[in-house]
Amino acid sequence: MAETPVPATLADVPRERWPQHIAIIMDGNGRWARQRRLPRMEGHRAGRDSVERVLEVVEDLGLKQVTLYAFSHENWSRPQDEIDSLMKLYRRNLVAERRRITEKNARFINIGRRDKLPAAVLKEVETNERLGAENTGPVLCLAVNYGGRQEIVDAARSLARDAAAGTLDPETIDEATFASRLYTAGQSDPDLLIRTGGEMRVSNFLLWQISYTELYVTDVLWPDFQKEDLYRAMADYARRQRRFGGLSPDDVR
Ligand code: FPP
Repeated sequence: MAETPVPATLADVPRERWPQHIAIIMDGNGRWARQRRLPRMEGHRAGRDSVERVLEVVEDLGLKQVTLYAFSHENWSRPQDEIDSLMKLYRRNLVAERRRITEKNARFINIGRRDKLPAAVLKEVETNERLGAENTGPVLCLAVNYGGRQEIVDAARSLARDAAAGTLDPETIDEATFASRLYTAGQSDPDLLIRTGGEMRVSNFLLWQISYTELYVTDVLWPDFQKEDLYRAMADYARRQRRFGGLSPDDVR
């Protein structure tokens, strides 16, 4: 199979400095639609095309994982017709993604509380997860009805249940034990978190997992986000020194 050429923006960036797991807060669909005097849902539909572009990059460059914030725990407070249309868009999209799972050897994971998801969406989520369960290619992780605080509460509850049942000694709980009860159990933490739409906040996304993640905020609205914008974020990441609370080799002299 022919190798995909490395885009010019990344040509001088050694591959080992590329982020392997990218998480994205896809913001700005509503503003994009408003600028064009279109209904908000048109912004979400255009946002779907940006998702496709990002997935193509992940596949073409052989990245390990992308995690997309599609619907937050707080998004239920939006008008019901927007919620219904978004859920329909996700359902259609989950069905369409099946081809990618098979052809690209991709894995699909959904994170978030599942109890509130419409049955039709949950059915497609579970089908996709089953279909890609043994696949070893890129991981597409979709956060739907996701909240970082809720995830931490759910993990605490699960540990407390085991402690109360006498199957877990509270003194043995460490970071790894805790992480194993999160929705993201078994996944690596994101290297890079991109937020589009310019807001400087993390909005209850992956609170535990982004402790040492590099942040990149761009004013570009999500439907306008091009492959080139992703390459730029990756190149910016590659220039940074990740120290994880320690010192860089230059400082140790
Ligand atoms: C935030 O923009 C975006 C969302 C709440 C939904 C994200 C959904 C998509 C990108 C659609 C396609 C996704 C998949 C996975 C099929 P906003 O409405 O808050 O924008 P605003 O801040 O400009 O109002």
